[in-house]
Amino acid sequence: MTSFETKTPLGKTGLSVSRLGIGSSFGAPTRVIEEAVEQGINYLYWGTVRRPAFGRAMRNVARRDRDGVVLTIQSYARVAALVAPSVEISLRRVGVDYFDLLLLGNWNQPPSPAVVDAALALKDQGKVRFLMVSTHNRPLLPSLFEGYAKGESPFDVFMFRYNAVHRGAEKDAFPFLPAEQKPGIVTYTTTRWGDLLDPRKMPEGESPPPASHCYRFALSNPAVDIALCGPANRDQMQEAIRSLELGPLSPDEMSRMQSIGHHLYGHHKARFADAGDEPS
Ligand SMILES: NC(=O)c1ccc[n+]([C@@H]2O[C@H](COP(=O)([O-])OP(=O)(O)OC[C@H]3O[C@@H](n4cnc5c(N)ncnc54)[C@H](OP(=O)(O)O)[C@@H]3O)[C@@H](O)[C@H]2O)c1
Repeated sequence: MTSFETKTPLGKTGLSVSRLGIGSSFGAPTRVIEEAVEQGINYLYWGTVRRPAFGRAMRNVARRDRDGVVLTIQSYARVAALVAPSVEISLRRVGVDYFDLLLLGNWNQPPSPAVVDAALALKDQGKVRFLMVSTHNRPLLPSLFEGYAKGESPFDVFMFRYNAVHRGAEKDAFPFLPAEQKPGIVTYTTTRWGDLLDPRKMPEGESPPPASHCYRFALSNPAVDIALCGPANRDQMQEAIRSLELGPLSPDEMSRMQSIGHHLYGHHKARFADAGDEPS
């Protein structure tokens, strides 16, 4: 059994999570998600695109064992009055009383106090248990972590981009994590929108790494609790799960991923830049 196959605590939430999380955007069928849960994956994130098949999988696995799964719902609402309806409609669709996490998505500045209050109200009502936030502005993270360390943050979990191409978090996020009582950390864009798997984008003479190497790259960083994957089908789901069976990258595999990542960074522009990227 590798260290990636063991569940890990998600910050101080008390939730115990698989190291791989599944996002819903890319369309894997219901049964594929259910199988992944049967294989030990317990972090399901209904976002960015709330695909109905993924919602059905959440409903089915929650019916069997609600306590065994960690269900995250995302809201991109910028208007406080829209936060509750966005969560409540999803609760009805999934047929559960609460989500474990409400993710306030894509905030490049601290979320507005009104939106945070709306999210906290849902927490008070027991409709969500914990709050998290995602950002494309990594330089914002040190101040968010500072608030967390002081016990002043409404958020228990933070989510941002980290992959072999975009390693900026090693400089502008991870070093700023509180030494004690780390918050939960979830990372996304692990395959760099599939670029890391594209033979046309490799350095000369290199073949692309398997997708499992991408997830292993992110998880090999001790700050990362969950690397998200976005499977479109059973093969992709199973390849992602393989990353847990294979465990941390060996030093040779790590240096190969870093050199492919370095090549991609220099030769193939990011589809969506994050604040904190080097100017190209
Ligand atoms: N809230 C936010 O700020 C935020 C930001 C980014 C992402 N997200 C969400 O996070 C979740 C994860 O997305 P991600 O981009 O991080 O996931 P990802 O797994 O890095 O990317 C999914 C992409 O990788 C490709 N892929 C995955 N496994 C593969 C395999 N075995 N072989 C070949 N190609 C493979 C898919 O390509 P094909 O589709 O071409 O098959 C898909 O384009 C999604 O639900 C996404 O919407 C949220």
